[in-house]
Amino acid sequence: MSLSSFIQIAGGIENIARVLSPDERVILVVLDAKLIDQHNTEVESVEQVQQETQLTFVRTEMITDSQLIELGRQISERQLEQLRPFCQPVPCDYRPQWHISPPQGLLNDPNGFIYHNGEYHLFYQWYPYACVHKDKHWAHLTSKDLVNWHWQPVALTPSDWFDSHGVFSGHALSQDEQLMLFYTGNTRIGPQRDRHTTQCLATSKDGIHFEKYGPVIGELPPGVTSHIRDPKIIRRNDEWLMLLGAQTTDLKGRLAIYRSNDLHHWRFDKLYGDETGDMGYMWECPDMFELDGQWFAIIGPQGIESFSKYNTIPHHNGYFKATWNENSPSLSDFAHLDYGFDFYAPQTMVTADGRRVLSGWMGLPDEIDQPSRGWVHQLTALRELSVRDGKLCQWPIAEMSALVDKQLELSLSQQRIDIGTKCFDMSITLEWGQSLNLFVDQESALVIKAEQENQRLILDRSRTLNRAMDTQRELPLTSQKVKLRILADNSSVELFVNGGEAVMTSRVFTNKCATAMSVNGGEANAIVKILKAATAPFQVN
Ligand code: FRU
Repeated sequence: MSLSSFIQIAGGIENIARVLSPDERVILVVLDAKLIDQHNTEVESVEQVQQETQLTFVRTEMITDSQLIELGRQISERQLEQLRPFCQPVPCDYRPQWHISPPQGLLNDPNGFIYHNGEYHLFYQWYPYACVHKDKHWAHLTSKDLVNWHWQPVALTPSDWFDSHGVFSGHALSQDEQLMLFYTGNTRIGPQRDRHTTQCLATSKDGIHFEKYGPVIGELPPGVTSHIRDPKIIRRNDEWLMLLGAQTTDLKGRLAIYRSNDLHHWRFDKLYGDETGDMGYMWECPDMFELDGQWFAIIGPQGIESFSKYNTIPHHNGYFKATWNENSPSLSDFAHLDYGFDFYAPQTMVTADGRRVLSGWMGLPDEIDQPSRGWVHQLTALRELSVRDGKLCQWPIAEMSALVDKQLELSLSQQRIDIGTKCFDMSITLEWGQSLNLFVDQESALVIKAEQENQRLILDRSRTLNRAMDTQRELPLTSQKVKLRILADNSSVELFVNGGEAVMTSRVFTNKCATAMSVNGGEANAIVKILKAATAPFQVN
């Protein structure tokens, strides 16, 4: 039997929601069970799996990989048509004015951040249809200036047998005029929804339309569970390395490395990171680069113990120093990348003029219940990385200055000053004992307190509309004063502390009119640059 006869039995291409192909089978998930040809004798089984009707066929030799890819392409065309209305933004007072947010639905990790053929490309994990984590797509934005981002056709949809439950995170390579996307294909098989994971490739000649090649790594390496994902490709010593976040079969987070000479054929090297000891049950979203002569490995370890009693979230993010011994990296000195509430899954890339710039997800895996309506989560401001005293520092990219509308010089005290907007770039130095109140109205305030007794900076969002249970974050500091650069938007704040030695990032939901600020514990001078709106990163008719 051919694939086209399976499709006919399933009620035609328009009736196919997903395709899967485990264990020499082809599974077609249909949209409407009534359209199945009841007189056929070829179906091995018709099952109801998690509210989906699945038809299973034995995969015959007639069915080639390229036929399955062609079926995926047709499903993708339908998906792209279906999601068209979801590319229009829903209006909402919490919508950021200059950060990237999804038009509708749920955004998570930045993906494929790269400079390619004179333009920057930034993709993100997107579920368009609701504010929940489900079958992820890659939304696609491009920019010439790293500040104004333009919507492009959705690059990858969960349309194929290897990614039909999610085109998961990955990175991009700009190679011989081609834009190559490496990502994790996620599928769920059977009533237990067993996870199947492959590492996949898609390429584009025009940087806009992508062709899927399917898995370049189809099997799990020894010693890991199906939690192995988020490929990052780096070049070192004349070979390509693919870095993956992995979970070992004894439930430890580790870094898996594959090697290749041609980007298509990959051989498993080994799992790295044993020297880090117990660093959680899973590592996600690795990145690795050399800066100022030192290698760093960024990783999202899940389930590590928190450094602070205020922070009860299992998902952390930070970096190791990496030292190469021949071809083997050894990891040490883990440090957090962010001390706020909402920061995860960052990616870095190198700009046209050689700066290493980071984009992160301003959100957390388990926190989807927030006051924004019809959309949830956003990306962080872009941050240039540098090394000071062996540590990674982050600083808003210089291009941010293009958004400055006007500058105010304020002498802040207990007396509230209403600046009429939540979108600003502020510089202020706090003495120990002082606190700065932002987004203030009768009901709300975000409090940033330089607490003298314990010499720590406290970020307190208990008087805001955030629905997450945890309300405070702390950052221990030893400096004489606390120098802050604060990037604010309609529902977020990013505090760059002491020249970017530490950052605290948070979503902050307050009433629309909460646009005043004040200082307790004496006066403080502030320079406040009011920011204009960036180009809306959506498809707008
Ligand atoms: C991190 C993550 C990745 C995965 C993606 C799925 O937030 O869990 O590991 O690829 O999100 O959306």
